[in-house]
Amino acid sequence: MEVVPLPDPDTVARVAADAVERLVTGRPDAVLGVATGSSPLGLYRELARRRAAGTGPDYGGVTAFLLDEYVGLAADHPQAYRATIAREVAGPLGIPLVHGPDPELLPDAGSAYETLLADAGGVDLQVLGIGGDGHLAFNEPGSSLVSRTRIKTLTARTRADNARFFGSPDDVPRHVLTQGLGTILEARHLLLVALGAGKAAAVAAAVEGPLSASCPASVLQLHPHATVLVDPAAASGLTRLDYYNEVWAGKPDWQRI
Ligand code: GLP
Repeated sequence: MEVVPLPDPDTVARVAADAVERLVTGRPDAVLGVATGSSPLGLYRELARRRAAGTGPDYGGVTAFLLDEYVGLAADHPQAYRATIAREVAGPLGIPLVHGPDPELLPDAGSAYETLLADAGGVDLQVLGIGGDGHLAFNEPGSSLVSRTRIKTLTARTRADNARFFGSPDDVPRHVLTQGLGTILEARHLLLVALGAGKAAAVAAAVEGPLSASCPASVLQLHPHATVLVDPAAASGLTRLDYYNEVWAGKPDWQRI
């Protein structure tokens, strides 16, 4: 795992955008895994800014796959993740094809989504955020480290965290469909973005704690190409920070994340 401590959220967005652009430039038909939440918004806006400025690659051949989706919202509900990604990512970048787990297909929605992912050849680069309790996508603490796409029940904490997008915690759906941790591990590059002090404990547990279902994001420790981009507040719980800084500062230009 590569942990990259960066000076501020704007630099995190730029470094993440460089990685996405390098992928799409080299592979115009790339499969991009996209995450919702606040953490990747800077990345998406940076990519859109570059594309509008005419410096970014063409996304016309890219396919996007969502990590997760609420159960019980219409696909065009403004807080449905398919609508969110269409608004924040696919529209501004011009990505023509976006897939997400489809609650209409329950009880077979999980296996249907796994088939779609496999038929697309898997995800080249998966953008990830992390929940304050260490959840990854909607894999709450206790999720199997080898889980596949399935229905899950949100914890009270996640519903409270996500209440800012709804009227109140009571308006946040209780059930979701989410890629499993085993599904996420099959993406060829995992790029996790963590910002702010509220993520410090979760980042420390994921990166330096034991591999444990109690911290679902610790599953990144099993991946051969996982990159964790952190701002100073999110990095503040890490004990090996000096080492991560030394590695990043000494990285040769040809060796990208
Ligand atoms: C939700 C999403 C996750 C995201 C998490 C953190 O639970 N399903 O994919 O990582 O929120 O969100 P934020 O980046 O807004 O803190």
